[in-house]
Formats: sequence, structure tokens, C-alpha cells
Amino acid sequence: MTPALIVHGGAGATTPPALQTERRSGLTAAFEVGWNILVQGGTALDAVVQATVTLEDHPLFNAGLGSCLTEDGTVEVDASLMDGSTFQAGAVGAVRNIKNAIQLARAIMTDGRHVFLVGDGAERFAREHGLPQVAADELITKRQYQRWQTLRLGSGQAQQTTGEPGTVGAVALDSSGRLAAATSTGGVRGKRSGRVGDSAVIGAGTYADSTIGACSVTGDGEHIIRATLARTAVELMRGGKDPVQAAHTALAHLTRQTEGEAGLILLDPFGRSGVVYNTESMGAAFRSEGRLVVRV
Ligand code: GLY
Repeated sequence: MTPALIVHGGAGATTPPALQTERRSGLTAAFEVGWNILVQGGTALDAVVQATVTLEDHPLFNAGLGSCLTEDGTVEVDASLMDGSTFQAGAVGAVRNIKNAIQLARAIMTDGRHVFLVGDGAERFAREHGLPQVAADELITKRQYQRWQTLRLGSGQAQQTTGEPGTVGAVALDSSGRLAAATSTGGVRGKRSGRVGDSAVIGAGTYADSTIGACSVTGDGEHIIRATLARTAVELMRGGKDPVQAAHTALAHLTRQTEGEAGLILLDPFGRSGVVYNTESMGAAFRSEGRLVVRV
């Protein structure tokens, strides 16, 4: 079976021209990391995790290094992943001091006792399982600190749900027909400490079932959670329905129910893909007719 991969760098406002080249190279690097795993016979799960780690480590995406800040000026990240062949999943919410939340989510999945850990307990789990932790300010970039200052000194509005994209994620189909999905984010700028968004919630931000499809979502977390968007989109592919049509129908459901804005990437077991959003733009990298396509 021919493998397939899509990575995304978030849906939202158009990326400013000065950032486009760097974001493009970040998406290209993430795609290549995941693609190399797949063409060497690796698993869909490894591909989505490593592609997501690459974007978490890139300072211009809102995940890991470069995450947006809470109203308290801290970084708290969310992530989740799902293996569509085993139906196992792992998720973390509102964790601090963790560079690669997706690896923590994977460790929770592998451990198998729980699916979803948050806050201090998740951080203790990371220490006990030897996952690297960083000092609180190591994930704060100058750019995000300045954006936080602007918000704080500006209108006084607490949370900004729309704006520059930056949540990251990936979906993959491997040569054995397994599907997997992963999503990671710093959340929304100026959020309350302790807020957890859709990227940590299986069925909302992330979902995979190797018999139907895999999905990673980006956008307004509070709306996406209520629409259980990832699972909705995957269910709309049941019976071999077209991923692009499924993605449009899922977004129409989101808009009708919540007026939320979002983007999603979808893959089905035949390698057919959907990259659809109702925001100004969405960063993504995928292959089309044998060529790499990268959008910022
Ligand atoms: N979709 C990212 C968030 O709302 O946290």
C-alpha cells in the first residue's frame, strides 16, 4: 500500500509575509521527517509523532517552543494522538515545562493505564518516564512574549481565539494500512491558566480509525470541542465517502452549531485526503500527484 501523510501548521489569519518563508521551511521539514519514516516502512504512529515533534521544536508554530502565553504569562500546552489500528490514544492538557507534549501523550498511550493526564500529574508522569523537561521560560520566544505584552497592555481583553495560526498536527497512512493522527498546541493567546482546548481531546482535536479515516483539527477550541469535530469528520467518511466532502460537511456542522472557525486534515484508508478550513488560511504540507505541496 502506498503511504500518505499530511501535516498542518494551524488555521487562522493569513501568515504575515515576513514569516512565510520560515513557516514554509518548517512545514517542509516536518513533512520530510514523517515521509522518510513512512517510505522506510515505519508506522503511521511514528510518522505523525515525529512530524509533530519537528513542528513543536520550530519557534514559529504555536506548540512546544513558540507557544502562545496564558494571561499569567506562562506556557501551558495540550496534545493528543490516536492509533487507528489499535484504537489506543494518549492525551495531555495544561502541562508546563514540557518541550514535546506529543511525546508525553505517546508515553501515556504506551503505558496504557490512562488516556488523558493534565497539569502536575502529567508532569510527574513525564519525570517518572524520563521525558525531557525544560525550565518554564525556555519555551517562551521573544515574539510570543511581545504578543502577550501587546494583549496585556492593549484592550484588556483576556483571550484571543482567532488570529495567526500555529496549532500543529499530522495524519498518516502507512504501508500496512494503519492510520494515525496527532495534534499539539500552546492553545489560545491570553487563555486562563488551566484552560484545556480541543487539541487535547480525543474526538474533538484528534481521531483515527484505520477502517474509516484519521483527522487532526485546528481552530477555535471551545467550539471544536462542542462539535466533536474530528470524530464527526471521520464518521462522515464511513462507507468510503470522499474526505473533502466529509471535511466540508463537518465544518458546516461546526458553523451551524457554534459559529466556530476551524481547519482540518483528513486521510482515508485509500490515501485520499482532505485539507479544508473556513478561516483566512491554513498551513499544510502534503503530496499531490507525486509532488510535495506546501501552503502557509
Ligand atoms: N485549537 C487549539 C485550541 O483552541 O487550543
